[in-house]
Amino acid sequence: MRKDVRILLVGEPKVGKTSLIMSLVSEEFPDEVPLRAEEITIPADVTPERVPTHIVDYSEAEQSDEQLYQEISKANVICIVYSVNNKKSIEKVSVIYICAHNERLYYRVPLILVGNKSDLVEHSSMETILPIMNQYQDIETCVECSAKNLKNISELFYYAQKAVLHPTGPLYCPEEKE
Ligand code: GTP
Ligand code: MG
Repeated sequence: MRKDVRILLVGEPKVGKTSLIMSLVSEEFPDEVPLRAEEITIPADVTPERVPTHIVDYSEAEQSDEQLYQEISKANVICIVYSVNNKKSIEKVSVIYICAHNERLYYRVPLILVGNKSDLVEHSSMETILPIMNQYQDIETCVECSAKNLKNISELFYYAQKAVLHPTGPLYCPEEKE
């Protein structure tokens, strides 16, 4: 059995990565957050799948590309966060996907698309995001959530855990080795 799960959040600046982590931990929306949250470890007994879970934040302002690649290679699952009211952050999803995929050619990593700030819009971003989901393999699922009203926050981290513990596809692709 796996001994722990490492979840990495990436995405454009200001989409709410740090807020999502803080909302999960404190069960309320933080008015102010640092650029990057400290790595947190959720003990096994309070996670749905009973596995210690590390949650790792990323901030372009505080970290180099090299540090990002290192985190990508260590992660067991990557949440690509965008903001449902920000078209540019949605377009950036593909770029981040390709970057993560190139780092992880041999041992694939499941990815989850996370549309944050659902409190700000009335319509869903699914129509825009579905083509991206269908285009790329390894995208496990997508979820819309809001750090502000705590909608789907615990679900998001549960899906991430589940993607690691119960993968739906093969994560090792020998034909791509070489
Ligand atoms: P960087 O660290 O710069 O990459 O940004 P980030 O992705 O960590 O975003 P951060 O958590 O700092 O949030 C950016 C802004 O969006 C802050 O003003 C948050 O209060 C706001 N915000 C975050 N989540 C939500 C949300 O679900 N709804 C709304 N309305 N605002 C949010
Ligand atoms: Mg941040």
